[in-house]
Amino acid sequence: MEINNRIEIIEVGPRDGFQSIKEFISTEEKKKIIEGIIESGVKKIQLTSFVSPKHIPQMQDAEEIAKYFLNKYPELEFSALVPNYRGVKRAYEMGLRNIAYVISVSEGHNKANVNRSVDESFVELEKILADFPDINITLDAATTFGCPFDGEVSYEKVDKYVKRAYDLGIRTINLCDTIGISNPKQIDELLTILLEKYKDIEFQVHIHDTRNMGMLNSYTAIKKGIKHVQASLGGMGGCPFAPGASGNLSTEDFVYMLDKINIETGVNFKKLVNIAKECRDNINCNS
Ligand code: COA
Ligand code: ZN
Repeated sequence: MEINNRIEIIEVGPRDGFQSIKEFISTEEKKKIIEGIIESGVKKIQLTSFVSPKHIPQMQDAEEIAKYFLNKYPELEFSALVPNYRGVKRAYEMGLRNIAYVISVSEGHNKANVNRSVDESFVELEKILADFPDINITLDAATTFGCPFDGEVSYEKVDKYVKRAYDLGIRTINLCDTIGISNPKQIDELLTILLEKYKDIEFQVHIHDTRNMGMLNSYTAIKKGIKHVQASLGGMGGCPFAPGASGNLSTEDFVYMLDKINIETGVNFKKLVNIAKECRDNINCNS
């Protein structure tokens, strides 16, 4: 498979990055950073998450962030992460129609992350699909490549998960390396299986950079034909409910690499670096 000559970047810093920062980032500062990301040319942005503010207080301003950007930039593709029906309802009421619904492939992480069994999360997804027929759901398959609680996740287990989603009508699945444990061989092998079997599913990747392999792993995915890659400004990120999950694939590094190998992203590297500096200087990433 040839690498596509254009890769769509999905920026997840405002969600995956900010959620792991304890000190509350003011809504104004969040807006400034997201404006900067938009200014650099990114067209697809995960703005926030509609989760319990008790679990992730950083995301308590989800409504305000979503409303502001949906009104101001109706032409862009904004999404938000949700863990349950309640989250979908909140996002829907704000006008969001692109939703990332998270279910881990492994039981241990799903329980720690959303306090549900995998089966319960799928049953809830079915209800969401029935009650909100006009939303586009991306299924975030957390711990696709390994779980901090259950250990190895087999290809068969991922395949079963994808099949279950497929049977519910899901056609966009984001394969998440939640703890940055994957390697190029695993990505190559898993994608070989999934791309062959589910030709009408759009697979995306979301790869953490825990072991300095985020770039290599994401590159391996695009070499297999993946067109949509999630990345986070400044490499911010990590799942608060996955021990050891540290930073993400940095959007600016990824854009730089793609520029050098003549793959178009529509994103201006220099502008992105400037806004990454804004993050570094004005939000307390170490909190
Ligand atoms: N938005 C806002 N509040 C919500 C909510 C949502 N989507 N879902 C539940 N709540 C509220 C409930 O109303 C309840 O509030 P109360 O105590 O004032 O009555 C409280 O949160 C707990 O609700 P409950 O249904 O018992 O949830 P829980 O404690 O079993 O937690 C989740 C389940 C899914 C809400 C929680 O685990 C969560 O938000 N997880 C987010 C995980 C995440 O963001 N991970 C990182 C990204 S992958
Ligand atoms: Zn993540």
